[in-house]
Amino acid sequence: MTSLKTKFATLELRNPIIISSCVLTYKPENNLAFEQAGAAAIVLKSLFEESIIRETDHLQEVGEHVEAADYMQGYLRAEHLREYIDVIRQSKHLCSIPIIASICCRSVGEWVAFAEAIEQAGADALELNVMGLATSRDYRDGDYEQRHIAILEAIRKRITIPIIVKLGANITNPVSVAERIKAYGANGVVFFNRPYQIDIDIEQMEYSSAKVVSQPSDLVNPLRWVGIASAAVQGISFALSGGVHSGAAVVKSLLAGATAVEVCSAIYRNGNGWIASALEFIEEWCRRHNYHSIEEFRAMMSANDAENADSLERMQFMRYFGGWK
Ligand SMILES: Cc1cc2nc3c(=O)[nH]c(=O)nc-3n(C[C@H](O)[C@H](O)[C@H](O)COP(=O)(O)O)c2cc1C
Repeated sequence: MTSLKTKFATLELRNPIIISSCVLTYKPENNLAFEQAGAAAIVLKSLFEESIIRETDHLQEVGEHVEAADYMQGYLRAEHLREYIDVIRQSKHLCSIPIIASICCRSVGEWVAFAEAIEQAGADALELNVMGLATSRDYRDGDYEQRHIAILEAIRKRITIPIIVKLGANITNPVSVAERIKAYGANGVVFFNRPYQIDIDIEQMEYSSAKVVSQPSDLVNPLRWVGIASAAVQGISFALSGGVHSGAAVVKSLLAGATAVEVCSAIYRNGNGWIASALEFIEEWCRRHNYHSIEEFRAMMSANDAENADSLERMQFMRYFGGWK
């Protein structure tokens, strides 16, 4: 018998497949269907700090009386939060697997109070998605990374449930950020979020959206960083997100040192049946390699081993593929 049990951010999981934050997880009935299909945990669609601010700013643009606008701002914030809290409560009511709330944030602001309401609503953990672009000419090196720490510090003071930080791939050194967020009380880290990608329509000459869902080839970057960081930073667990489209990709993520994967595009492409087929593949792979639990092989390919570290840190093609045609 193979057990696929694992632990991420102190949460006990029946297997390593977590449904990552996306539009699908905003419906409690979808979350029940994910549980029934075999998922081990769900990350709810993010509550966007930005969208709440935009809604309330709009009121001032249309010239509301100042006091009325203040009242409405408070009301809208509460409404937006109430809807999110309802999704947490209903998902918790329907599901027995962990329900992880998610906040997409850029700065420390009033919104940090939302974290307490999320905890009170029964969320098993909170994932913070701090991804953004640093584009200012006045930018000082390290400011973007420091923003993650400041937000985490403010949230950690308010809640006791596990906190997960989901990083963008545009961090210079994810290893040092993982080390620092661990020191500031994070329990798990996700490598990496998928940014909204732009394209240009050359006939209309306007910006359009590039492919929304990922490709299997997107796995390579988070795989490298999980392999490096999971060996260097102890006491925090790693989940891989980005390009997990098969059971084999889950096995690779575990071998690199992740304890779980967060998956979204594979579900969009294949439906909920993807979860069972991925789990079957992992079980079959374990049988073939004579493993009875994930811990028997997890991190076997991480940078803990000098030869693996050499492969993971290799960046230049030249030396190795000089004769490649
Ligand atoms: C349609 C869509 C909506 C998403 N919404 C969110 C979101 O609200 N919050 C978040 O942290 N990530 C969001 N993501 C990113 C996913 O959670 C995931 O990290 C990313 O897509 C990489 O995983 P994948 O390759 O399995 O898609 C979204 C992705 C997609 C495709």
